[in-house]
Order: sequence, then structure tokens, then C-alpha cells
Amino acid sequence: MYKILANTLFLGKEIIYMPSCHSTNDEALQMLKKPDTREGLIVLTDNQTKGRGQRGNVWVSGAGVNLIMSIILKPGFLAPTEQFYLNIISSLAVAACVQKQVPMCSSQVKWPNDVLLNGKKISGILIENTIQKNSIQWSVVGIGLNVNQSVFQFSKATSLLKETGYTASLPSLFEEVMTTLEYYYLQLKAGKRDALKQEYLSKLFGYREFRKYRSEFVFEGQILDVLETGQLQVQTPKGVQSFDFKEIEFIY
Ligand code: BTN
Repeated sequence: MYKILANTLFLGKEIIYMPSCHSTNDEALQMLKKPDTREGLIVLTDNQTKGRGQRGNVWVSGAGVNLIMSIILKPGFLAPTEQFYLNIISSLAVAACVQKQVPMCSSQVKWPNDVLLNGKKISGILIENTIQKNSIQWSVVGIGLNVNQSVFQFSKATSLLKETGYTASLPSLFEEVMTTLEYYYLQLKAGKRDALKQEYLSKLFGYREFRKYRSEFVFEGQILDVLETGQLQVQTPKGVQSFDFKEIEFIY
């Protein structure tokens, strides 16, 4: 069903498909222990039974209806402090593909790397890196993209089917996401950091808008920037403050 990708340079030249597994990120992290594992390997499943999300959360996905995959990259050109560029390129790639499927709606990126469609979460991304000396040795980019799932536990979750009423082909969408991810990754490798950051900000949910946030207290603030460290820079009633991922929550 999922074919080796023909239109890429290095992504998806090897695919490990498992009808069911605990977590594709865990499987990909295991693959890193093998000496012959190469950049571009993709682990895919139709049924993830112990999917992991950010902040230690679980990622629950219907069986056989969504894209659940982990991509192995070797971004040795990034310093550990530059990890956030991987969040930028992966969320931009997924958002671009979602946008292409639903041109009349706007896809957005919710910091750090959720993808929203019509203000609801359609994709979650979990990036796990290994560090060697002063660079990132391996990166496992785990993507869950809700495609043909019709019912969700959370009201703020959605899928392409829910937003369009149409069923999409998982293999075609898989190919599209991977080709787009490779494009953005190569842009990053070519040093186009400023342009990628600008594109990310242009898609960022809440950028330069007044919205409610929760940190130590609930406040109304405005996102001003995302720093190279990945911190969110926000204008708060107490002045400009920078937040790490676990330090701030959107209220929306
Ligand atoms: C989040 O929004 O919390 C991130 C969710 C990431 C889910 C994906 S699905 C494929 C990969 N395998 C996992 O166990 N998690 C990621």
C-alpha cells in the first residue's frame, strides 16, 4: 500500500510498515541502534497502540484511518541549540499539505508545532533528537495527521474528513507530506533559516494578535516572536517575556 518514494532524493527510500505497533517513534528510536540505519528511513503504522505526544501526553489515533509515521533525519548541520528549526520545517510541511487539500480554509501552526485547520488540531508532531558533541546526531520526527477519522474524543480535534466531508487516500497524502518535508529540510540544510522562520511566523496561530494565555496566571498577551531557542516571546501585562514549552498554555 505504501510505496518507496520515487520523487524524493533521500526520504522514504526505505519504509518499515507495521500493521500495528506501540509507537512509531519508539520503533524509529530502536532503529537508531542499528549500524546500517540511514537518513530518510520512515516507520509507518496503521494502528498505534501507545502513541506518545508532547508534554508526556498520549496520542490516540483511530486504526487504519490516519497517517502515523516517524521519519529519521541526520541533521548534523544543526547545533543542539538550533533544534527548533526541525519543529519549523516539519510543521510547515504538514500545514502546506493540509492547505493544499483544503484550499478554501486556512491551515495554521500552533506553537511549537501543532497544525490547525479551521482552528482545530489536525496534526501533532513529536520530535526526539540524539545529540553528539556539538551537533544533532539523529532526529526522529513523529507525525500524526488526522485524515479519515470521523469521531474525536476532544472537541478541538479534527481531520480532513471532518472538515471537507471527503475521504482522502492515505498513500497519496503520505507521499505529498514526505515530498514537502524533504523540500523544507533541504531549504534548511541550504541555510534558508530566515525565510523559513518568516514563513513559520506568517502561519503562526495568535501571532501579533491579543489572546488569552495561562502561565503563572491568566493574562491577555500578544506573541511577538519565536526565538532561535524555540522560546515563545510574548508581550504580557508585565512586559516582554519568553516562555519555554511547558511554561505557557493557550486559552482558546
Ligand atoms: C502531540 O501533539 O502531542 C504530538 C503527537 C505526536 C504523535 C505522533 S504519531 C507518530 C509518532 N509516534 C508517536 O508515538 N508519536 C508520534
